[in-house]
Amino acid sequence: MRTIRTIAEMRAWLGNCRAENRSVGLVPTMGAFHAGHHSLMRAAKDEQDAVVVSLFVNPTQFNDPKDLQNYPRSEANDAVEASELGVDVLFAPPASEMYPEGFATTVSVAGLSEILEGAERGPGHFAGVCTVVCKLLNIVAPDAAYFGQKDAQQVAVVKRMVRDLDLSSKIEVLPTVREPDGLALSSRNVRLSSEDREQALSLSRALFAARDAVAAGERDVERIRAAALAQIEDPEYLAVVDPLTFSPLSTIAAPALVAVAARVGPVRLIDNLVLEPV
Ligand code: PAJ
Repeated sequence: MRTIRTIAEMRAWLGNCRAENRSVGLVPTMGAFHAGHHSLMRAAKDEQDAVVVSLFVNPTQFNDPKDLQNYPRSEANDAVEASELGVDVLFAPPASEMYPEGFATTVSVAGLSEILEGAERGPGHFAGVCTVVCKLLNIVAPDAAYFGQKDAQQVAVVKRMVRDLDLSSKIEVLPTVREPDGLALSSRNVRLSSEDREQALSLSRALFAARDAVAAGERDVERIRAAALAQIEDPEYLAVVDPLTFSPLSTIAAPALVAVAARVGPVRLIDNLVLEPV
């Protein structure tokens, strides 16, 4: 596996790939890999001839400078893991390569970026995500880019951007990888104490309670929310929404998304589950 730090070198490598008619998969990440990232890399490896994993802790999507500063960084380990999974290139540019002096363009998706995660973290969060993902899709021009359902709103925003800007890469979405007890894997979990770790379980417990209520025949969103809220104290939000538009629902007649965010110890965690009325 090669680690590449400049856009020019990345494009030269991709030129060779294309000359050999090899398909390319891109897995955008901010590093500190866990089994969730690994599942995206495996899917890319299964479906494409060559796999590029980007590792860039994107400063423009952090609303809190402390969160950016404390974001876990472990590039040496990440490189070993990516290499073991058969990744061809780790694209790990410095911030000055992605945002050179004079950088002035932002890609933002209206509406979707302003609710739930957008409302809590500020509209700049998804603009930061979209701008960097747009740049990565332009630099690598992959046949497909791989994202996790763990960040459901990010998936919805990225899909909207790809449609609106006629980007040609396919967006593939892989299921959320969880610990055996239900906790969704997250790079931020390493900052949880054992007490925080116990409290963090309340997010998935709330989602599972919503799912159980739906399985028992409940279709009224306020009652589904009440079942979920019995499992979690003081979430930032717990919402049942349309999975594509993220608009709130009052009853569910088709697959819906229950999404939750909460502060646990020093970190902010998010999770979600698709509710399937059958
Ligand atoms: P990061 O948080 O590193 O996540 C990289 C990818 O891994 C995202 O698509 C995310 O949804 C996925 N992922 C995280 N936890 C997961 C889990 N438990 N199961 C399955 N997939 C999981 O998301 C970002 O980085 C950034 O916003 C990025 C898209 C790279 C733009 O900077």
